[in-house]
Amino acid sequence: MEKLKLSKLGIWMTAMKIRDFHITVNQRNLFHLTNLMVLYLSLIYLFMFIQFFHDLISRLVNLLLLFFLLELGIVSWRLNPDDYENDEGLKKIREARGYSYVDICDVCPEKLPNYEAKLKDFFEEHLHTDEEIRYCLEGSGYFDVRDKNDRWIRIAVKKGGMIVLPAGIYHRFTLDTDNYIKAMRLFVGEPVWTPHNRPVDHLPARKAYLAAFVENDVGGHAVEAR
Ligand SMILES: [Fe+2]
Repeated sequence: MEKLKLSKLGIWMTAMKIRDFHITVNQRNLFHLTNLMVLYLSLIYLFMFIQFFHDLISRLVNLLLLFFLLELGIVSWRLNPDDYENDEGLKKIREARGYSYVDICDVCPEKLPNYEAKLKDFFEEHLHTDEEIRYCLEGSGYFDVRDKNDRWIRIAVKKGGMIVLPAGIYHRFTLDTDNYIKAMRLFVGEPVWTPHNRPVDHLPARKAYLAAFVENDVGGHAVEAR
């Protein structure tokens, strides 16, 4: 009888130990799980914060670059190249700035006659006596322009980007490693594509450009149609 009582007591104590052991393990698991969740959420928030900060910095840098280009008389827009025939944004720009002429040209070895020679000409530093207006429908390329201190600035033009270089600004154009751009060319009236290679500082268009954007430091003449 006494043995039986002791035996029951032993079983009960063993059961208690096992139960306590499980409780302890569960608490530890819960503790680790909570820590993991906190760590996981912290990482997500940290990632979101970095992404937000990165986007913010990128936007601010782009905005500063746009202002910097405006100071040189260069304006640009982002449009919808996949529906350019019905794009209201493009229509408004054309109406506001009087771009009556439009054509589309492909610059690539397969489609442009005398490709190598033409590309060499494009990359020769030059100016025009009218605006140079290009709207990138496909592909990409680079415009290099001179800043107020006569240093080169490289502008990457990508699909959907439209850029207007003012008359009289020294510039050049080249493709990137993809060797392809499909560009819309626009003009006020009958087009004149003649490049005047540097130095041509005596041209009225050059003098007018310097007076408007460099010597008097008066930028922003060409921003009204934005
Ligand atoms: Fe040009």
